[in-house]
Amino acid sequence: MADLNPADQTPRETTEQAAAPATAQPAAGQALGDRGSNRSQRPTSAAFRAFIADRWADRAAATPEAAEVAGYAAARRARISELFPGERLVLPAGPLVTRSNDTDYRFRPHSAFAHLTGLGTDQEPDAVLVLHPVDDGHEAVLYFRPMSGRDTEEFFADARYGEFWVGARPTLEELAATTGIATAHLDELAAALAKDVGPDGVRVRVVPGADTGVSEAVEQARADTDLDAEELVAADAELAEALSELRLVKDEYEVRQMREAVAATIAGFERVVRQLGRAVQHPRGERVIEATFDGHAREEGNAVGYETIAASGEHATTLHWIRNDGRVREGDLVLVDAGVEVESLYTADITRTLPVDGTFDEVQRRVYQAVLDAADAAFAVARPGSRFRDVHAAAMEVIAARLAEWGLLPGTAEESLDPDGQFHRRWMVHGTSHHLGLDVHDCAQARRELYLDAVLEPGMVFTIEPGLYFKSDDLAVPAELRGIGVRIEDDVLITADGHENLSAALPRRPEDVEAWMRALLAD
Ligand code: GLY
Ligand code: MN
Ligand code: MN
Repeated sequence: MADLNPADQTPRETTEQAAAPATAQPAAGQALGDRGSNRSQRPTSAAFRAFIADRWADRAAATPEAAEVAGYAAARRARISELFPGERLVLPAGPLVTRSNDTDYRFRPHSAFAHLTGLGTDQEPDAVLVLHPVDDGHEAVLYFRPMSGRDTEEFFADARYGEFWVGARPTLEELAATTGIATAHLDELAAALAKDVGPDGVRVRVVPGADTGVSEAVEQARADTDLDAEELVAADAELAEALSELRLVKDEYEVRQMREAVAATIAGFERVVRQLGRAVQHPRGERVIEATFDGHAREEGNAVGYETIAASGEHATTLHWIRNDGRVREGDLVLVDAGVEVESLYTADITRTLPVDGTFDEVQRRVYQAVLDAADAAFAVARPGSRFRDVHAAAMEVIAARLAEWGLLPGTAEESLDPDGQFHRRWMVHGTSHHLGLDVHDCAQARRELYLDAVLEPGMVFTIEPGLYFKSDDLAVPAELRGIGVRIEDDVLITADGHENLSAALPRRPEDVEAWMRALLAD
């Protein structure tokens, strides 16, 4: 953020100056759109511009090497190319998103763009990958805003894109070398989108919702095609669906990234356990857990792959408890659902429910064991040939059976498992599994027949995450269960002959969890 350094009188914007105009009336006649720059004290003299443009060392001349992912991304583009012969496909990275006023969120490219370019964190705001139809498939061109010269105003004065403010961007040559994709200046995009478009010409599809400005440019380009608005929406949705389905089976590179994300996440859980004592002492102990994990994720990866859930005691019965403002009390369980997203943007998604003082009591252990048995039943069918939905069904059989044993269901487990029953779902309203990868809920636009109803294939990565959640005001369960929430979540890779639990190194069985915590706390 802009930083005040009066000692050297360097021209820059200051937070102090920002406060001053807030109390004053805007100058009469000042354009509304210009008021955002009230705090700017940018030098404008020609002499200053000439001075700041002068005497900089040459940029590095060496062309960078192709990124490890480049070949994999090319293969992914080839598969999409086959599905849409003769059509122009437009995949925006997306724009910077404003947090407030002139402050942006950290940039994360759209996942479909990341998948087909191999670009990861911070690359590249406003960029657009276009697959142009050619005789034997498609030619990929990456349009983006390349590094500006030192003689431009942007260089020193543009807080959003300028090198002085956010760092240098790559040149056209550099990004072409690392991605293996032809590059062009963003200024050429509009004309490129419209080229040869028409009722008898090229059809254009754009990933919906990725970048409003690009979508509008595509709308203009296809204004006089023979498809009506509804058909165009459907055409774009089909592209989103195909891109989502392309990620259902991970390639070798993606599996390596998932392994890294899982390893970093497991290390983050170890750090959390080491901080449990401090969490207990703190009035918002859940925040201690969140901050510990999130700090770890920034140190070891790009960030967290989703907001960390640090849910102690009754909070664990709220499935996505991300407020994380509660106490962490000895004797309670704490549910930690967290994932490190690595620089390539792949994320893990792991949950452990831990006894805060290191030992499960009898009732906690009973609930925990039921959830663990459900997870193990789900693992037992996680192999090629099973259907995705079988994994959930296996977990539900165990959950229903346990709840029936405990006398909580209005009938038998079988009656509950019947689609007309489903009483057990009162205590586990979520699904058991979702695909995992660039998005925590990956492949979300895939068709049902390729997701829920799909036969499992080697290379698929998904979670197994059954749980039981007994709210403290749930009068349908005995008092001893109220306020207990347990989820156990692992990340699973389907292999040629079964599965691999990618997160197996993080203890799951109650006695292993206790021993692991003891060892970490004794260190
Ligand atoms: N952390 C969100 C989920 O487990 O799906
Ligand atoms: Mn999950
Ligand atoms: Mn999770």
